Amino acid sequence: MEKKKITTATLKKMKKEGRKIVALTAYDYTTARIANEVGVHVLLVGDSLGMVVLGYENTLPVTLEEMIHHTKAVARGNDSALLVSDMPFMSFQINDQETVRNAGRLVKEAYAEAVKLEGGKDVCSRVKAIVEAGIPVLAHIGLTPQDVLVLGGYKVQGRKASEAKKLVEDAIAMEKAGAFAIVLECIPAELAQTINEKLSIPTIGIGAGPHCDGQILVSHDMLGLYNKLGQKFVKRYAEIGNTIKEAIERYKEDVEKENFPSDEHSY
Ligand code: KIV
Repeated sequence: MEKKKITTATLKKMKKEGRKIVALTAYDYTTARIANEVGVHVLLVGDSLGMVVLGYENTLPVTLEEMIHHTKAVARGNDSALLVSDMPFMSFQINDQETVRNAGRLVKEAYAEAVKLEGGKDVCSRVKAIVEAGIPVLAHIGLTPQDVLVLGGYKVQGRKASEAKKLVEDAIAMEKAGAFAIVLECIPAELAQTINEKLSIPTIGIGAGPHCDGQILVSHDMLGLYNKLGQKFVKRYAEIGNTIKEAIERYKEDVEKENFPSDEHSY
């Protein structure tokens, strides 16, 4: 079945019509193909790449080159979803000009159709500059993993009234700066609801409760391939890690016992 191409306009329309947006991270061609078959609306090449695929301790070491490499792979497998690529740590912190140049590389070299960057009011000028250059921006507030060193860990954000107020202001600032949608990560469900009601752009939640316009999960978390952070908000839809382990164990045993290759697998 041919799937209609999802654009930023589709997502805005979905919010208006009350249709939920389904977003998922992907880092390779095969996952992108499967997600397309299912009709996932947004594929994000998140910088979670660094942790779940490349084995870094956190997302800080991820480079723009690594994001380009994996975004290209996802782009080759993707026909229908909106393809968003993450701007890694230090690719947008310096100044607006460098930020636009780096966002441009994700679009020109890796075929991203939008970029995501973490931060609130502090990154307003970056978001404006990227949008003015013709690149759609997905904002990301709440728990922003690139701030793990200053936050001191991956904790729920916005529990205190002052933090909640700041997050509402950040969300409004991102909409004003021109973001087409916003990721709300790891914040109380009630706060996400308040933010959702104040914005006309779609909200996409991860650990932000049921009131967002859409949801996103890290594919390796929901598939049971990665469990280092053990976050409460992750629902595991499969235990692919166990399936892979069992398969490799059976293969090893077959080779050692000379059950493989049999005549069936020989010429
Ligand atoms: O890097 C990532 O995968 C993300 C999602 C968790 C939203 O930012």
